[in-house]
Amino acid sequence: MIHSGKTKLAGIMGWPVQHSKSPRLHGYWLREHGIDGAYLPLAVSPENLGNAVEGLAALGFTGANLTIPHKEAVLAFCDEIDPAALRIGAVNTLVIGEGGSICGSNTDGYGFLENLKTAPAWQAAAGPAVLLGAGGAARAIAAALEDAGVPELRLVNRTRERAEALIAETGLTRAQALPWETRNDALAGAALLVNTTSLGMEGKLPLEIDLAALPVAATVNDIVYAPLETPLLAAAAARGNPTVDGLGMLLHQARPGFAQWYGTDPEVTEALRTFVLGDG
Ligand code: ATR
Repeated sequence: MIHSGKTKLAGIMGWPVQHSKSPRLHGYWLREHGIDGAYLPLAVSPENLGNAVEGLAALGFTGANLTIPHKEAVLAFCDEIDPAALRIGAVNTLVIGEGGSICGSNTDGYGFLENLKTAPAWQAAAGPAVLLGAGGAARAIAAALEDAGVPELRLVNRTRERAEALIAETGLTRAQALPWETRNDALAGAALLVNTTSLGMEGKLPLEIDLAALPVAATVNDIVYAPLETPLLAAAAARGNPTVDGLGMLLHQARPGFAQWYGTDPEVTEALRTFVLGDG
């Protein structure tokens, strides 16, 4: 691909970054829209993060995404931080403004909700949501669900104190922390179950849970997308629960950044999903 002197540059900072699907995802949209832009993998070690973020502005980049392990540390290098990112203490998107100002935002909660909306059965007011896990992803998801109007959040985490800290630090008012051992019973009466842990991912331990108490009308979402159909989603589908896989969250969280950097709001389509999953 040939770039001009006006190519708009963006990328993803991570350590490691070579497994990131974001360059493929943004590259697809750039090609689809015929945009004179580039989106690059940027392997930035933790000790280089500050220099790298300042370097974005110095190099005339239009912005960047952040992934593990930079989402929390990058707040220290932002000139402005949007309320959603401040609340959860994590930034995944940078936009470089006129004059080189660095504006951080977090689109993970937005991406999660947009993906969930592809399940026609799910409505925020329908009932309690059960979240498994209390890590970085759970923070964004819990805040987004409460803001969307979910009446009750049950945070079930192996380390219960971490779920309690999540509730306190993000200011959740309709959430409770429950012990990991109670995860089967916590499903009673729920309208939504979300796995935000890494359990069930290729190469990780399986997620051990019995769905018997979960109403069959409840939507089940796994943020793990490798494999696309996790054992949790397969078990949920087999008993008739509507399911939403995790790839859509990755695709939707990318849209606001792309729109701000390149001036076009891109679409999440089946063709995009297929492309991002492939490697050709
Ligand atoms: P992320 O930021 O991507 O959410 P993370 O912060 O490492 O990742 O969180 C991983 C989540 O998976 C945590 O909720 C973790 O539970 P702890 O808070 O107790 O560590 C959960 N998790 C990881 N391995 C687990 C296991 N074997 N059993 C139960 N939960 C597990």
